[in-house]
Amino acid sequence: MAKKPGLSAIVLAAGKGTRMKSQLPKVLHPLCGRTLVEYPVTAAFEAGAEQVVVVTSGQPEITQALEARYGKDRIAVVVQDPPRGTGDAVRVGLSAVQHERTLILYGDTPLLRAQDLTGLIAALDVPGQELSILTALLDNPFGYGRVLRDAAGAVTEVCEQKDLRNDAERAVREVNAGMYAAVTENLRGAVAELKPNNAQGEYYLTDVVAALAKTSRVAAVQGEAEALLGVNDRADLARAEDLLYARNREQHRKAGVTVHGDARIDSGVEIATDAEIGPGVCLRGKTRIGAGTVVDVGSVLVDAVIGERAAIKPYCVISESQVGDGAQLGPFAHVRPESVIEADAHIGNFVETKKTRVRRGAKANHLAYLGDADVGERANIGAGTIVCNYDGFVKRQTIIGEGAFIGSDSQLIAPVRIGKNAYVGTGSTINQDVPEDALAIGRARQVNKPEYAKMLREKLAAAKKK
Ligand code: UD1
Ligand code: CA
Repeated sequence: MAKKPGLSAIVLAAGKGTRMKSQLPKVLHPLCGRTLVEYPVTAAFEAGAEQVVVVTSGQPEITQALEARYGKDRIAVVVQDPPRGTGDAVRVGLSAVQHERTLILYGDTPLLRAQDLTGLIAALDVPGQELSILTALLDNPFGYGRVLRDAAGAVTEVCEQKDLRNDAERAVREVNAGMYAAVTENLRGAVAELKPNNAQGEYYLTDVVAALAKTSRVAAVQGEAEALLGVNDRADLARAEDLLYARNREQHRKAGVTVHGDARIDSGVEIATDAEIGPGVCLRGKTRIGAGTVVDVGSVLVDAVIGERAAIKPYCVISESQVGDGAQLGPFAHVRPESVIEADAHIGNFVETKKTRVRRGAKANHLAYLGDADVGERANIGAGTIVCNYDGFVKRQTIIGEGAFIGSDSQLIAPVRIGKNAYVGTGSTINQDVPEDALAIGRARQVNKPEYAKMLREKLAAAKKK
């Protein structure tokens, strides 16, 4: 079998994006956990591109973001300055293209997926087809380039809205989605011949269609209308966000996850089967949820890794942390970065952890702050326990041994160690290490004054009578 021809992709992102009214370049706006431009770039790689060339107008932020995400050897950023139309952008992009075939995508179409591109690329396998274009049938095609065909149905050209010649052409519902696949050599030839002879005085990439249709067949591959939704302003961004979140929910449901109502699951989040994601839950970044785990109403998880059969009860916030199998958190727990809640541990309501390991089976069931701490296996942290990890200058560690019991309303002043199976009396302020198996009490001794309350009451009553 002949070797499959290599594929490069060009992603056009040199437009100014002025309608976003933003300091941030349009293609770097976040959408469901990724930037806009990442969607077409990822789709291109997933569709088999070995190299992606992104055409920008020279913003260093875009270059940095792309190289950080995909690595320098797979991404080339080229600058088009000034932007003189999509045809000119592709000419600039082609200077970096290394492969036999080229895919062309726009940087602001985040609903596009690799599966929308397979037919487009496969069309080039047909002998005599050097260009294929993705099209869609729209009820309202206004504003889009129209796909025009001859009497036999062969594509003859793509005509931009402003250049349409008559009502028959204006009535054509098949539009150019703005995604193309081409044999690189033929594309180079056609792009070099482009002229800015149109209503806008721009180099139109779409003129390549008419040029190549003269000598070969141009394939029109019809795709879903949703895939071509372009983001030009914040209203489009909101529409794309709704569609993407709905799509992500569906994808997880198909994979065996119960996803309620309006849960917002970012692109790239992983969820194992039989997990249940409650209404109003936000799963962001690189979050991973294990099998059978329930994340209940309103919880927000950012870069959190949760094991299997864990219960994240309503309204927990978990960031950059790990939670083990069978652990129970919340309601209203706050697990801050670098926390590790091990298997079967319990973190109850209004408990905050930061950079803290709560080992297997340990419990902090109510109202506690655990920062820079290591809580041993099966230890029990009473309600109101505060680890005083910060003295105003540096943060220090608190180590609590396995099986230790910290009585309610205690303060542990770091650095301090509580030995294995030790017991801290309720209401203690602990600033010295507690040995294994010892009882520590660090509070003022109670004094009872017999009859004192009664005496006071009588004194006050007598004073009132006078
Ligand atoms: C384009 C198509 C139109 C199609 C529509 C689909 C052309 C001439 N027309 O129109 O047939 O129906 O998309 O959405 O191609 N860009 C550059 N450099 C430039 C100009 C644009 O990089 O000099 C980039 C933009 O950032 C954008 C993309 O190319 O990502 C499309 O440009 P835009 O001006 O939005 O094209 P449309 O007028 O929407
Ligand atoms: Ca556009």
